[in-house]
Amino acid sequence: MTPELPPHLPLGLSPTPLEYAERLSSAWEGPQIWIKRDDLTGFGLSGNKVRKLEFHFAAARENGADTVITCGALQSNHCRATALAAARVGLECLLLLRVASGTALDLAGNYLLDKLAGAEVRFITPEDWRVRDDLMAAEALRLQSDGRRAHVIPEGASDALGMWGFVVAMREIADQGGRISGPAPVVWHAASSGGTTAGIGWAVERLALDMPIVACSIGDPAKDLEVKVDTIWQEAAAATGASVPATRIDYNDSHIGGGYGLVTDEELAIQAEATALTGLIFDPTYTGKALVGLRREIAKGTYGEDHNVIFWHTGGGFAVFAHDFSRTAFAADRGVPDV
Ligand SMILES: Cc1ncc(COP(=O)(O)O)c(C=O)c1O
Repeated sequence: MTPELPPHLPLGLSPTPLEYAERLSSAWEGPQIWIKRDDLTGFGLSGNKVRKLEFHFAAARENGADTVITCGALQSNHCRATALAAARVGLECLLLLRVASGTALDLAGNYLLDKLAGAEVRFITPEDWRVRDDLMAAEALRLQSDGRRAHVIPEGASDALGMWGFVVAMREIADQGGRISGPAPVVWHAASSGGTTAGIGWAVERLALDMPIVACSIGDPAKDLEVKVDTIWQEAAAATGASVPATRIDYNDSHIGGGYGLVTDEELAIQAEATALTGLIFDPTYTGKALVGLRREIAKGTYGEDHNVIFWHTGGGFAVFAHDFSRTAFAADRGVPDV
C-alpha cells in the first residue's frame, strides 16, 4: 500500500473482480474489453462511491461526528451511498439534493433509497448549487449550535480524502492486470466530480503502472474536469507532503451528448446492447454514457483488436429505475405498448 494512505473504515467488499467481456469485445469488433466490477462492491450496490466513503466515514468517526452532510443531484448515487453508509455505522445523514423547478419529485430510484435509509433531505435549487459548500458549512454550524457535530463530505466525496479509495482500487488492478497480455490496458471510466480520476491518476504514478487513463466526462467540459482533478491532487499533495502527480490523463468530453443525465435514443440503444452482451446493468447517466463513449471511439478506430481496455463499471445501477424509458425508440423496438 502507498505510505500516505489515511485511515479507512471498511464498508465495501474488495477486491472486486476484473472480468473479460468476451461477447462484448467480439460484437464491437474492437479492443479486448475487461470490466472492473465495482458494481459488486457489495454495499447497497454503491459502486465506486463506497470506496471514497470508507475514508470519509473513518474521518467522521475520528472527529466524533454524529452526522454526515453531503450534496448531489436528486438521483445522486453518492448521496444514496452516503445515506446507506450512515445507516450502517449509526450516523445521522443530511442530504442537500439539487432540484430544478418543475422537476417531478417521484419517490423512486436513489431518492427513495435515501428516504428508506432514514436520511433527512433538504432540496436546493441549481442557483444554490453554486454555493453548495457554503450551504453545507452553514448546516454544520446550525447543528453545532444544537450541540451536534457534523462531518461534511463534498460533492461525490471527491477530495483529497475520498480520492484514496481509488488509489486502493488501482492497487487491485495492478495485482489483477497480470492476466491481461499484450498492450498496456487503457483505463476507461465515467468522470464527474473528479475523485475517481484523481485516485486513478495518483496511483498510476505512485505504483509506476503503464496504463493510459481516459476520463470520459458525463457532463462537464474537459477543462473543468481537469481543474477538479488538479485541485484534488494539490490538496492531497499538501496534506501528505508528496509531489503533485505528473500523470497524463485524456479528458474526453466528446460524448456528453445533451448533458448530465440526458440520454438519446441512440445512446439508450448502445447501453441496451451492452447489457444484452454482458448481462450487466448500466445506468443512463454514468456507466451507460461512458460505454457509449467507448463504443463511439471504437467505431472511429481509436481502439482496435490490438488494444486492451479496462472499462470501470462504477456502479449506479439503481438510477436505471428512475429513468422513464416509456415512449422511447427503445420501448417501441421492444414492442412495449404506448398506453
Ligand atoms: C455510477 C457512477 N460512476 C461514475 C461516477 C463519477 O465519479 P466521480 O464523481 O468520482 O468523477 C459517479 C459519480 O456520481 C457515479 O455515480
